[in-house]
Amino acid sequence: MKKQNLVVIGGGSTYTIGMVMSLVAEKEQFPLRSITFYDTNAVRQEKIAKASEIILREKYPELEEFRYTTDKKTALTDADFVFVQIRTGGLAMREKDEQIPLKYGAVGQETCGPGGMAYGLRSIKDMIQLVHDIRHYSPDAWILNYTNPAAIVAEALRREFPEDRKLLNICDMPAAIMVSYAGILGKDVFDLVPEYFGLNHFGWFTKVLDKDGHDHTETIKRAITEDGFIPEDAEIANDPSWIKTFKQVEQMLSDFPEYLPNTYLQYYLYPSQMVEKEDVDNTRARQVINGREKRVHELADQIIADDTTAHAELEVDIHGRYMIRVAASMAYNNGDIFIVMVENNGTIANLPDDAMVEVPAMITNRGPKPFSVGHIDTFYKGMIEGQLAYEKLVVDAYFENSYEKALQALTLNRTVVDAPRARKILDDMIEANKDYWPELYHSRRLTVNA
Ligand code: NAD
Ligand code: G6P
Ligand code: MN
Repeated sequence: MKKQNLVVIGGGSTYTIGMVMSLVAEKEQFPLRSITFYDTNAVRQEKIAKASEIILREKYPELEEFRYTTDKKTALTDADFVFVQIRTGGLAMREKDEQIPLKYGAVGQETCGPGGMAYGLRSIKDMIQLVHDIRHYSPDAWILNYTNPAAIVAEALRREFPEDRKLLNICDMPAAIMVSYAGILGKDVFDLVPEYFGLNHFGWFTKVLDKDGHDHTETIKRAITEDGFIPEDAEIANDPSWIKTFKQVEQMLSDFPEYLPNTYLQYYLYPSQMVEKEDVDNTRARQVINGREKRVHELADQIIADDTTAHAELEVDIHGRYMIRVAASMAYNNGDIFIVMVENNGTIANLPDDAMVEVPAMITNRGPKPFSVGHIDTFYKGMIEGQLAYEKLVVDAYFENSYEKALQALTLNRTVVDAPRARKILDDMIEANKDYWPELYHSRRLTVNA
């Protein structure tokens, strides 16, 4: 097996140590020659990189090279795989994305509704630049992007790089949900084969099979209805917010029992309930700052101080393992089946060809080969079309620097609906993001003064 050169962009991410542990756990499936971290924030990256260096020294002695840098050319030259996990504006801007809509009684969430729009408009610019840079230095590298909001980023990259066949957008949520299904069934998550359709953070499992073709869908539905639903993956199992989110699946399944929902549908199906349980002074960003980020930084500090992992609690999670299994299937043409984002082109028969949909695909060394879904029923089609129009309009707003398109996008979103409310949220978002999207700030002034 050829050994790969992997670059991780956003080396300072809270997910990097988990990714390193997953690379260790998956070294037989995805053997590496080198790992390179790249980040724009040298300080944030250094702590994570120094701890990773110790982990790799002890647990991956076969690795020939580990380095970290803030120089693009050094990072991106001779890459085989590039994993992208950046957060433009950091958790500080995430907090504003969540607080501003709540002020007007709308859902405040990282990837859904107005928060998703704001984060999307910030991410697009950096992501387009990064993909141009990667292609400049490593024209043939596989790019696996999971930077959020993945739906909006995927649509923007589809427009900017229409011919790029080695760029894949991916989300771990379906896999994290499948970890809980696997727990119910007493099986390994990679032994399950999903049937699924939708958009990113907006989809449904229609069936859950195993590799022998046995259908476990009804068993899973019955277990959720009778015994409840809990997160089981190590990263989220003990997190009160994720526990509540998984619990909400019980209500979704009771109201809409046909298919098993993605957890993110809670924001679109129960927006009022979601707003009610939010505390504007302790939104998810604050919980992550005091939770995952703090925990990861303390873990890194401990490993660096001890100069060993001997006393550290290190865990492998589905996030890293999922990305790596997908990468392995591309590198070695395994033909494994994973849920990923692809351009529709008839996969879901009654949705537009140019929609970025999330569906199961066979992952090969020529890219993802999605399985046909066929026609979807009116409820799902209606839900998806509204969300798709919102996503497309956000990306239009970016490329056209258009205040009007952004206002249309927010008005269409199920978490907003009311046009005057959409305008108020948008105006506050534009003010808060004027360092990131000055173009929209300018467009608003022209529109309002016209
Ligand atoms: P984080 O802020 O801890 O880490 C992001 C890192 O990226 C930071 O170190 C930052 O300095 C760096 N960065 C920002 N802009 C950059 C740029 N232009 N070039 C290089 N580096 C840059 O964030 P996090 O919470 O660890 O999340 C990282 C990303 O992964 C986010 O976009 C998050 O939403 C995403 N994510 C997605 C999924 C999914 O299912 N799609 C799952 C987990 C995380
Ligand atoms: C899931 C989603 C991701 C999201 C992550 C973290 O894995 O698929 O897109 O970034 O959760 O969410 P959190 O609120 O814990 O930062
Ligand atoms: Mn996701």
